Formats: sequence, C-alpha cells, structure tokens
Amino acid sequence: MHDTIARGADILGLGAGAVRKVGVDARFATRPEEVERLIRADLAAGVRPVAVVGTAGTTGTGSIDPLPALAEIARRHGVWFHVDAAYGGAAVLADDLRGLLAGIELADSVTVDAHKWLYTSASSGIVLVRDEQHLLEVWISLLAHGRAAYRPPGLPPGDAAEAYVDLLDERLLTELQLDGRVFPSSARVGERFALRACIVNFRTEADDVDALLDVAADLGARLDSELRPGT
Ligand SMILES: Cc1ncc(COP(=O)(O)O)c(C=O)c1O
Repeated sequence: MHDTIARGADILGLGAGAVRKVGVDARFATRPEEVERLIRADLAAGVRPVAVVGTAGTTGTGSIDPLPALAEIARRHGVWFHVDAAYGGAAVLADDLRGLLAGIELADSVTVDAHKWLYTSASSGIVLVRDEQHLLEVWISLLAHGRAAYRPPGLPPGDAAEAYVDLLDERLLTELQLDGRVFPSSARVGERFALRACIVNFRTEADDVDALLDVAADLGARLDSELRPGT
C-alpha cells in the first residue's frame, strides 16, 4: 500500500490510524482472506469499514493484488472498492499486459498517474470514478458560494470599467515587453483585450508564472495610478 492511501484517510478526516495494513503472500500481493478477517474484526468491534483498497502495481515490487477477490469482498460488505493503479494502470493499454489487471473494471474508483508510464512531462494524477456524480464534490465551493463570490473586488461593474481595464492592459502589454523580464502577447477574447501568456516550454516552472503575475501587478499598479480616471 502506498503512503498516499494513509494521507488520503487523513485528508478525509478519518486519520491515518484508520487504515488497516493487510498481509501479503509470497509474491507481495494482498491476501484476500486477511482483508476478510480484518473487516470482520472491525465489524465485531463496532468499527465500520468504508473501503477496500487494492494496488495494481505496487511501487516497491510491481505486485498486483487479486482484484476480483477484493472486489467481491468489498461488494459483499457494501464498502467502496478503490484500485490504486497510479503506477501500473497504463498497462491496460497494452494487449499483452491488460489481463494482469483483470478486476480493475469492478472498482468504484481508480487512480492512474499519467506522468508514470504515459510519460506526460507535467505531473498528472488522474482519478476515475464509476459514478460521475462523485466528481461534483470538486465544485462544492462554487455551488455553496455562487459565481459572484469569485468576481475580482474593487471594480465597478459596467462598460466604463471594462473599457478602462482594456485600455490599461493594452498599455501594460507594451510596458511589459519593454521591461523585458517577461514577454506576454495579447488576444481578443470576445470584445475584450486580454494579456496572454503562451506557455509551451516544458522548463517553465510555477515560479516563472508567479513572476509574470508579480511583474504585471507591479507595472500595472504604476500605470493605473497614472491613468485611472479622476486621479
Ligand atoms: C502505487 C502508487 N500509488 C500512489 C503513488 C503516488 O503517486 P503520485 O504522488 O506521484 O501521484 C505512487 C507513486 O509512486 C505509486 O507508485
């Protein structure tokens, strides 16, 4: 079991201590009868198991848990079945390896890392869920607060404010290019003028993007103090 499972339990508020580690066989694969035993022991102690997690390709040895047997146990006890295929999941794309992951299709959720065997240059953890309703939780803040809560503060709504920001950004583009530390271009988005950062170099780091925003905020504030109507 990868450390991220205990971290996930922490994030959920269950605590890493709620995770039961299961014994493995000679090939380092989870022993289903151990899972069954631990679930029964928890139930007998009044503790409600919520999920069985199988690994499809462990980090240390590449072992693959007996997924059909784990799925059957999870189904019988009415608990979630998750497969951590972060490392090995891409094997389903290879005809000669797919059979090794048999049973993964029974999972309620699967994690796959595209930056491992799919070789994406950017870090990319993927969660697949059987029932897409579960993904709605990602938008819970938006649902709770509404779109208006995410509008930038301090600008009066309306055409005059938009026209001013467009003018400011047009001037800012020239200032940024002359300054030379960053080199954004521009785009028309609908009727609006937009500063555009076209990031295509895989060496670009988050710090570079932050620096672009810092320089733009700095020069933009200076221009704003010169241009703002009524100042
Ligand atoms: C089996 C398994 N699960 C989870 C992870 C966590 O992946 P990451 O934090 O890189 O997305 C890894 C990474 O090595 C892994 O091998």
